[in-house]
Amino acid sequence: MVANGQPHLEQCILVTGGAGYIGSHTALQLLLDGYTVVIVDNFDNSCEEALQRVVELAGKNGKNLIFYQVDLCNKDAVENVFASHHFDAVVHFAGLKAVGESVAKPLLYYLNNVNGTLNLLEIMSSYGCKKLVFSSSATVYGQPKSVPCTEDFPLQAMNPYGRTKLFVEDIMRDLHKADPEWRTILLRYFNPVGAHPSGRIGEDPRGIPNNLMPYVQQVAVGRRSELSVFGSDYNTRDGTGVRDYIHVQDLATGHSAALFKLFTTPNIGCTVYNLGTGKGTSVLEMVAAFEKAAQMKIPLRIMDRRPGDCSEVYAATEKAEKELGWKAQNGIEEMCRDQWNWASKNPFGYQPSHADGKESKPVCNGGHDLKISNGAAAT
Ligand code: NAD
Ligand code: UD1
Repeated sequence: MVANGQPHLEQCILVTGGAGYIGSHTALQLLLDGYTVVIVDNFDNSCEEALQRVVELAGKNGKNLIFYQVDLCNKDAVENVFASHHFDAVVHFAGLKAVGESVAKPLLYYLNNVNGTLNLLEIMSSYGCKKLVFSSSATVYGQPKSVPCTEDFPLQAMNPYGRTKLFVEDIMRDLHKADPEWRTILLRYFNPVGAHPSGRIGEDPRGIPNNLMPYVQQVAVGRRSELSVFGSDYNTRDGTGVRDYIHVQDLATGHSAALFKLFTTPNIGCTVYNLGTGKGTSVLEMVAAFEKAAQMKIPLRIMDRRPGDCSEVYAATEKAEKELGWKAQNGIEEMCRDQWNWASKNPFGYQPSHADGKESKPVCNGGHDLKISNGAAAT
């Protein structure tokens, strides 16, 4: 990625959900860029160990990370964080993201993703912090009529999770109309995969992974016996679904570029950018790339299509390239290399490995002392 300049060293960024997969990689990037980073996370789907490793990877800048174990649904606690810091901008990752769970528990998703965001926006407004980067998703394109998806495609949510993304996008568009001081960038991620090249931080899903690469990774380390390939009769090169996989490190630099754009573009309004590579890769191509990286065969079984899946989705990337000065640098080889590096070094994610191969309750899910908090826990 190429951002167009350097951030001001004094700038302080609030990163919600910063202990999670994309948030931890982005928080690290922002620390390395020279920002002070304040993370709020409730550890619903993450753990303190990820933050310890971010501090370690940030080297001398690690001291500029401050953490609060706070739930965005707890408005008083969020307000306490704003009372303790001056934020120049907010990068908002915090949210629940499992599509199937959102169908089973829509209220949970609306409460967490929409109410949590409304709390954050109200408090930002009252503290005069009106610069936001929001984690949207390619899911808002629904079943696109053609590819690549450009940012002006019609929007359509297919499930409650997708609707929470669309609602928040619409809320930000309304907010900007009502108060033009707001500067918002909505980033629509395509399919984030891979891990930090050090193998110290990566994706650590709870339970059975829904997404392709976390599943492949768990087959590779022996936690699952085989991969189910959902559908082989799509109208694609080899009949399997095609997606735009993007290295999480490229997403991290994409956020850095988006923040720089927010700070330097007073009339940015509420602007959307796709973050993808612009290249489609099929399930079988992705599995083959992983097999090459890990030097092993991934047993697989062809199954029926997964309900709700589309055949082919990939991003138009020109807008982000032109306006953010950002372009994904990594291809599927690097994605699979880093995914395997993370998986082989951390077969059970952030949990200690289990010699008997059995999974235990996550040891890192909330509720214990926070060693790296510079601020008082605001819960
Ligand atoms: P993640 O689950 O790893 O990270 C989300 C973090 O938010 C977790 O650490 C979780 O504990 C925290 N969180 C959730 N609800 C919270 C709340 N109410 N208060 C405080 N913290 C809360 O997920 P991720 O993959 O890093 O995704 C980050 C964001 O990007 C999400 O909004 C997700 O919907 C969006 N997104 C993800 C993908 C993907 O495939 N990973 C694709 C498109 C968009
Ligand atoms: C999923 C989410 C979507 C989210 C996106 C990016 C669903 C229904 N959709 O979409 O909301 O924005 O991730 O994170 O969950 N596959 C297999 N076997 C598996 C898993 C997946 O063959 O075990 C296939 C799928 O059919 C698809 C491809 O792999 O063709 C990618 O699947 P996945 O990683 O779940 O991403 P999306 O389907 O793009």
